[in-house]
Amino acid sequence: MTTPSDPGRASSTWRADHPWAVIYDRVSGSDRLGALLWRVGAGSSLSVLHGRARDALVHAGTDATVLDIPCGGGVVLRDVPRGFAGRYVAADISPAMLRRTAEEAEHLALSHVEITEADVQALAFDHGTFDLVVAFTSLHCFPDPALALREIARVLRPGGRLSGSAFLNDAGPRFTPVILAGRALGLLGPSGTRKDLARWLADVGLVDVEITQAGGLTYFGARKPERAPDA
Ligand SMILES: C[S@@+](CC[C@H](N)C(=O)[O-])C[C@H]1O[C@@H](n2cnc3c(N)ncnc32)[C@H](O)[C@@H]1O
Repeated sequence: MTTPSDPGRASSTWRADHPWAVIYDRVSGSDRLGALLWRVGAGSSLSVLHGRARDALVHAGTDATVLDIPCGGGVVLRDVPRGFAGRYVAADISPAMLRRTAEEAEHLALSHVEITEADVQALAFDHGTFDLVVAFTSLHCFPDPALALREIARVLRPGGRLSGSAFLNDAGPRFTPVILAGRALGLLGPSGTRKDLARWLADVGLVDVEITQAGGLTYFGARKPERAPDA
């Protein structure tokens, strides 16, 4: 049964462009307001996200094939390195968020961004398509984060990398009200703990797992082994 706090409905709430999605996008795109919201709501800094996104994109190289999911309003686009000439797919379940991504790509004069509606839990890309998947501020918004990671691992090429972040259930007692409010609004899924995250990544065959706490947010990185069967 769907209840007001049913974590299974998170994606449909985002898809319908809940008012919070509008606020989140506005605020995260603004340096001043974003800094404030992230400090108060997540005890963290947007600069950590941008630093990690930039590092991952630079490491992938200017001819990489990149999937940015969920791209939201295109927060990571500003981290695309100058001279990037690869394939950049920005995907999200929300058509409204994708429109915002399109506006951001235009604002940044990134003409080659492919904007695509997609459900991270059922991706329509072939196995081994991407050199890099970026999934920032992500897993807590999905009904089934383990399934999302399985799909992400599937579409990574052998040797490809994942870089992302999530609001996890063991972020600390200070963040419990934020998590409960997010669930009550239907915006947050079940998420998991850092231990769950490590297990989900291992279960889909990703290696070199790195998990780092930045305030209430957990950042993670991992690599698909060169010679592994598809997850
Ligand atoms: C908190 S925002 C994060 C967006 C962006 N990565 C960022 O860091 O600002 C979460 C995003 O997840 C998207 N989303 C929720 N469920 C999804 C799903 N099943 N597949 C793809 N995107 C989804 C929402 O539409 C929303 O844009």
